Amino acid sequence: MNILLIGPQGSGKGTQADLLAPKFNLIKIATGDLFRSAMASGSQLGESVRRYYDQGELVPDDVTLSVVAERLDSIGEDGVAGAIFDGFPRNLAQAAGLDEALASRTLRVDHVIELVVPEDVLVNRLSGRRVCSKCGAVYHTEFQPPRSENVCDVCGGELIQRADDTPDAIQRRLKLYSEQTAPLLDYYRPRGVLQQIDGNRPIEEVQRDLEAAVVEPANA
Ligand code: AP5
Repeated sequence: MNILLIGPQGSGKGTQADLLAPKFNLIKIATGDLFRSAMASGSQLGESVRRYYDQGELVPDDVTLSVVAERLDSIGEDGVAGAIFDGFPRNLAQAAGLDEALASRTLRVDHVIELVVPEDVLVNRLSGRRVCSKCGAVYHTEFQPPRSENVCDVCGGELIQRADDTPDAIQRRLKLYSEQTAPLLDYYRPRGVLQQIDGNRPIEEVQRDLEAAVVEPANA
């Protein structure tokens, strides 16, 4: 089972992907996470994506597609039942590239879930987001606080603010979403795989509906 989570920045894709992946034995393919760990490791890939990332711009499609294709090979190995994609694809070229990469492995996109959240809520979520500098776990100062201030519940790492969660980069990312990513909804809708979920509710309620959506056939 391969699931795409689509939604603007701050809609909760990463939060929900982390909860869903272990329940269905899926690997999480989150291009933003992959780029962040490449930058943290100081690799060549990390250096090549940093200027796009910090400005809130999209990393070039060829780089993004090759990073994703590499991860697809683990589907079917060691009980991995599929993938949940978070933050990918982000434009029509990436969606077409994903279709091709999946088809060459006799796989396909089974569910596309759009998380719907109003813009003022998104800005509030992104401004209060904190992430673990070691393991990448996501928190919010108000909605999902850690047990001890600035300390990760999972690994004890220090919590930091992401470099692209600045007011300017947030505005740029939200604009890019409506221009480049939102059109993907029309790309997937005719296939009958697209469902919408109200993401402006507590994390547990969104999670419950998301789980129901991927065990029942898509009908939108
Ligand atoms: P990426 O890491 O994918 O970031 P994003 O798309 O900007 O998405 P976010 O991580 O901001 O939002 P999210 O929906 O995952 O929200 P989250 O769950 O964290 O990409 C970063 C950059 O990498 C891009 O700008 C680009 O440069 C590059 N990149 C990545 N993919 C690319 C691609 N495919 N092509 C080209 N470039 C690419 O939640 C946000 C906050 O809200 C958290 O604090 C959380 O605790 C809180 N929260 C979540 N759910 C709820 C809820 N229900 N109620 C209250 N609070 C909630």
